[in-house]
Amino acid sequence: MKSIVIDTFGGPEVLRTAESPTPAPGPGQVRVRVQAAGVNGIDGKIRAGFLPGADLPAALGIEIAGVVDALGAGVTDVRLGDVVAGFADAGGYAELALASTYAVVPAGLTAIDAVTVPVAGETALRVLRELAVQPGETLVVHGASGSVGELVTQLAVDRGVRVVGTASAGHQDRVAALGASPTTYGPGLVDRVRTLAPDGVDAVLDTTGRGVLADSIELRGGTDRIVTIADPAAFALGITFSSVAQRSAAELSALLERRARGELTTTVGGVFALDDVARAAELNDAGRGGGKLVLVP
Ligand SMILES: NC(=O)c1ccc[n+]([C@@H]2O[C@H](COP(=O)([O-])OP(=O)(O)OC[C@H]3O[C@@H](n4cnc5c(N)ncnc54)[C@H](OP(=O)(O)O)[C@@H]3O)[C@@H](O)[C@H]2O)c1
Repeated sequence: MKSIVIDTFGGPEVLRTAESPTPAPGPGQVRVRVQAAGVNGIDGKIRAGFLPGADLPAALGIEIAGVVDALGAGVTDVRLGDVVAGFADAGGYAELALASTYAVVPAGLTAIDAVTVPVAGETALRVLRELAVQPGETLVVHGASGSVGELVTQLAVDRGVRVVGTASAGHQDRVAALGASPTTYGPGLVDRVRTLAPDGVDAVLDTTGRGVLADSIELRGGTDRIVTIADPAAFALGITFSSVAQRSAAELSALLERRARGELTTTVGGVFALDDVARAAELNDAGRGGGKLVLVP
């Protein structure tokens, strides 16, 4: 089967199409004939060699949607032929991939739309737990137009939280449509947020990793209740860097159902053939995806 691998760390040019052995599902795993693979920031960080302990050669991709075509021992919650979305245990950029946390995709939702949900949804629920935002509080989401940001924003707004969300000028309407007060990122951010939230900011989420922690500390008056998922400067500043996934098939299923009913919005930034992975990786590295970038084998 065809898959995308790297033999060396580097830029998008090190991604190459390979012929790999067909993976066999172990206990608790399903094998998925991949119809859509999500491109995530972590894929670019692994490819660039930023993740300690990553071995070479490596197969990339942690998020997939497609048709179950083989069941490992003990799997009883899905059948052959079901369409599922979930977390690839390894090598999601491929024609076939194995998954142990997955959920059935509701009728009416395409694999391309479904694959926008697993990673961003897990991350959004986790950071909201970590920030413990309460109804009536004000949350700043840096990168509210991104894959994680748009789900965090909607889930927070649903809970009665007031969200100020940053995005580029071209994505202000999109952030407003999620129920947040939009503003642009860049110089003058602290003043713009204070104008939108004159009573103060209770919590901050940085999804961007693009140097917004100093402004976040200024807005909070300290490092408490600030979480970043993308800026390693957090470690020196004493800010929480959230990175340990809390994968739940039940939570994924509930998010997919809500997405299928139109209660949650997610955005596909672009769809690429598997062989065109380098183009998707470049956009993803630059934070210019405009939504979830999806590979279609
Ligand atoms: N730690 C974890 O557990 C975890 C989990 C998931 C993701 N992540 C990381 O979180 C990051 C975001 O993931 P994602 O999938 O949401 O990415 P994404 O969809 O590409 O979103 C990126 C966001 O950053 C904004 N942005 C781009 N340039 C910016 C700048 N110069 N200043 C401020 N904001 C800027 C974008 O806004 P515009 O598009 O409007 O410009 C967009 O809202 C990635 O680095 C990813 O690796 C970490």
